[in-house]
Amino acid sequence: MLSKCLFPAAGYGTRFLPLTKAMPKEMLPIVSKPLIQYGVEEALSAGITTMAIVTGRGKRAIEDHFDISYELEHQIKGSDKESYLTEIRSLIQKCTFSYTRQIEMKGLGHAILSGETLIGKEAFAVILADDLCDNPCGETVLLQMKRVYERYRCSIVAIEEVATEHVHKYGIISGKEIDSNVFMIDNMIEKPKIDEAPSNLAVIGRYILTPDIFDILKTTPPGKNGEIQITDALLQQCKKGMVLAFKFQGKRYDCGSVDGFVEATNEFYKKYH
Ligand code: UTP
Repeated sequence: MLSKCLFPAAGYGTRFLPLTKAMPKEMLPIVSKPLIQYGVEEALSAGITTMAIVTGRGKRAIEDHFDISYELEHQIKGSDKESYLTEIRSLIQKCTFSYTRQIEMKGLGHAILSGETLIGKEAFAVILADDLCDNPCGETVLLQMKRVYERYRCSIVAIEEVATEHVHKYGIISGKEIDSNVFMIDNMIEKPKIDEAPSNLAVIGRYILTPDIFDILKTTPPGKNGEIQITDALLQQCKKGMVLAFKFQGKRYDCGSVDGFVEATNEFYKKYH
């Protein structure tokens, strides 16, 4: 059973400065919902109700969002506006939220390791809320991944094909396709140069990880940009056993970049508003 989802949300979000000086990137709105709420809804769609959030300094708005605001509730009680809170109220009712802080921002791998105390010794999902995934006609990306996990019981990363000129922005994998859209990874490189990239299959912000990843992360040295990289730890896990990559159905918006954020805003407004 997959019951917990970790949300690393401690990054500085420098691509959105000055906005992210005092506001968490994960609270950026796509129309009227913050990115992290879409992430929590996706986790819930996969039957996960325990949300474990790794935050940092200046991220308190995330905690307040997943809490009741009595004053506000009182103010709009009985008015049309009450319906605006239906979805978030239902999330708060169905899920539990726990938080820990990453004290120093030493990279995604380090943020995931900071979440160990909230996860314990069980397999867990990871959602990077700034990668917004949408699959209007089918299952959410995490639900698709959960189905693969139930079959193979090992760590799984979500991948998509990217244009060659963009490989330097992602973790890039190579591997053998063992099932439709499922690859057994044999190599992974974080942010490779074009001529070093083993393919154009890029890891995006959805993972299912087995708990042995924590011990591997504890001994993973800083890699690209001096950060502890989850890609490096997954390559170690892959050498010891098996890690899969799954090419999902649906569309991912890179809302950690201004262009991706604007694209998602426009498309979600047209589709869902
Ligand atoms: P990014 O690579 O997008 O980094 O992190 P960032 O700091 O958030 O944004 P930029 O590049 O400065 O604009 C990917 C995910 O990992 C989390 C981020 O919050 C984001 O969800 N992260 C990254 C951490 O939680 N801690 C870190 O030390 C680094």
